[in-house]
Amino acid sequence: MSPFDLNDPAAYAQWRERKLANAPHSAAELIVEVRDPCALTEAEHEALLQRIRRCNMAIYASPAREEDSAIPRLLGWQFGLEHLDANWLADEDGISEIQVSGGGTRQSYIPYTDRPIKWHTDGYYNPPQRTIRGMVLHCVRSAASGGENRLMDHELAYLLLRDADPQHIRALMQPDAMTIPERVDEADGVRPAQSGPVFSVDAATGSLHMRYTARTRSIEWKQDAATLAAVAALEKLLCCDSSYIYRARLEPGMGLLCNNVLHDRAGFSDDAEHQRLLYRARYYDRIAVTP
Ligand SMILES: [Fe+2]
Repeated sequence: MSPFDLNDPAAYAQWRERKLANAPHSAAELIVEVRDPCALTEAEHEALLQRIRRCNMAIYASPAREEDSAIPRLLGWQFGLEHLDANWLADEDGISEIQVSGGGTRQSYIPYTDRPIKWHTDGYYNPPQRTIRGMVLHCVRSAASGGENRLMDHELAYLLLRDADPQHIRALMQPDAMTIPERVDEADGVRPAQSGPVFSVDAATGSLHMRYTARTRSIEWKQDAATLAAVAALEKLLCCDSSYIYRARLEPGMGLLCNNVLHDRAGFSDDAEHQRLLYRARYYDRIAVTP
């Protein structure tokens, strides 16, 4: 029985009801105050997990101000996040410092600029053996203005699309739905073309994974009517003012802990005193959630 099996409408109906009943309606519901992100109390840990169970994401708010990538690493470790996806722009420990780059290779990649980033899930260009299932985004410093994130549980996106038309799901589960052509964006420099589905179900855990980018350059959608209709429906979903789209600005000491949910980033401006710095840790692991 899987709620993500189009041939099992009963399992879907049951899951759908619970999902909608538990879904938060604002970013405020995601936030948990914690004293030390490196050593959570049992109550703090449970409060974060409770949110992850509901919507695959939670935001912690802490007094931590240090410029120390051990903070996201130790935070993640407490949730079973251990296997980091290193990329050539990450530091040696596999954690990326996301800030405006003054030069070098990084400045040609959008995350290292102050420009907005469209809706996506992380690592959508990765090969299957490097699927990004979990992520921690920890804020050391916020910008003088801007830099908010919009967030959406990818399971909710699945639900809304399936409700609109199950054919959208069928189209987006095709193994050749989305192709990233050779050599694009961040991560590894030169890469071969990478085709894959948007939605897939992890064989080991039965959990739903989403691979998506709203960018229009350096991406090729399967050119059939069903795929194009599904992509249009998804785009429409993400541009509407839904109460399932949460808006949050990470302030110093705050961080997003999630199962690689859909997110974007607004453009921002730094000044001399406010230079945005976020640590980004991407994992092959999914957050360990026990019911
Ligand atoms: Fe991202």
